Amino acid sequence: MNLDTIPRISLTHLPTPLEEAPRLAKKLGLRKLLIKRDDLTSLGGGGNKARKLEYLLADALAKNADVVMTDGGPQSNHARMTAAAARKVGIDRCILFLGGPRFDRFYGNLLLDVVFGAEIRFMEDATVKDMENAMTAEAATLSAQGASPYIIPIGGSTPLGALGYVRGMRELAEQLDEDDKAPLVILGVGSAGTLAGCALGLRLFLPQAEMIGVSVAGRAKPMRETAAQNANGAANMIGVNEHFNTDDIVVTDDYYGERYGVPSEEGNKAILLAGRTEGLILDPIYTGKAMAGLIGLAQSGVIDPNRTVIFIHTGGSPGLMAFEDQFRTLAKFERVDMDKS
Ligand SMILES: Cc1ncc(COP(=O)(O)O)c(C=O)c1O
Repeated sequence: MNLDTIPRISLTHLPTPLEEAPRLAKKLGLRKLLIKRDDLTSLGGGGNKARKLEYLLADALAKNADVVMTDGGPQSNHARMTAAAARKVGIDRCILFLGGPRFDRFYGNLLLDVVFGAEIRFMEDATVKDMENAMTAEAATLSAQGASPYIIPIGGSTPLGALGYVRGMRELAEQLDEDDKAPLVILGVGSAGTLAGCALGLRLFLPQAEMIGVSVAGRAKPMRETAAQNANGAANMIGVNEHFNTDDIVVTDDYYGERYGVPSEEGNKAILLAGRTEGLILDPIYTGKAMAGLIGLAQSGVIDPNRTVIFIHTGGSPGLMAFEDQFRTLAKFERVDMDKS
């Protein structure tokens, strides 16, 4: 297996902690809930993209890139972490193509993009295809000027990026006691690269585990297909004889709410529950919806309460800071003004 020989650059401190969440488990009627704290990867505010970027940035450096480009929504954690990663490896230009609703304030992830000095190309209501086309066009212009641009597809979700989570699952397997080695793993799914890496990594290093992805961005079928393709690509890269069909990948699409990028009430309630039982920070776009999935699956009896459940906390906390309006009423916030006299 070539997992340790494919070039990778260290961007964070690993392993991330694996923590038990007994108060949240009790609320959900689960015997044991473990949280894999990938929100604590140290790169640029933390999150799952650090593991993918360790491979993608190593590739960019090997190709002598002097500009890194990627795309996402205005509150993209992936874009924010790519901007930080580019700085950390000394690539001083990072261009972010951000598509979605118009925004006026630079808050949450956008504020960090600005702090990291990324160039932002805003594309109102653009599709992924629109952003990809714009990136390709700008890369062609830059190349013609003598620069060496490196494009990272949305979410860093390529077979190479997925290797980060193959390693991540090996790391998880090494952290588990024997009794916990047949867990149910739950994680949020956007561009499905994390899911792809986890699928391959679990098959290789924790074969008795099962996994349910919780879609935060639309219907399950295309995500399952993309994950299977990326998992197969990753298996090829590291030279293991594993094959995935769409049916090997389980994703529920019952919890993404109205659409990607729009908070859901269940997700927001999950944020408050996790915050108030375990002091965890989830976000309205990814991990809150993923936790809403875990809660829903526990409450509907899909999860065997005696099975160890592992929630992969993929990060996103800067995004929470952009959604204060969502929590004013829900959190029943009241300020007590003290008498000055
Ligand atoms: C906090 C967070 N969780 C989960 C995901 C989903 O990961 P993936 O795009 O690999 O499916 C993302 C993607 O941007 C994210 O930022």
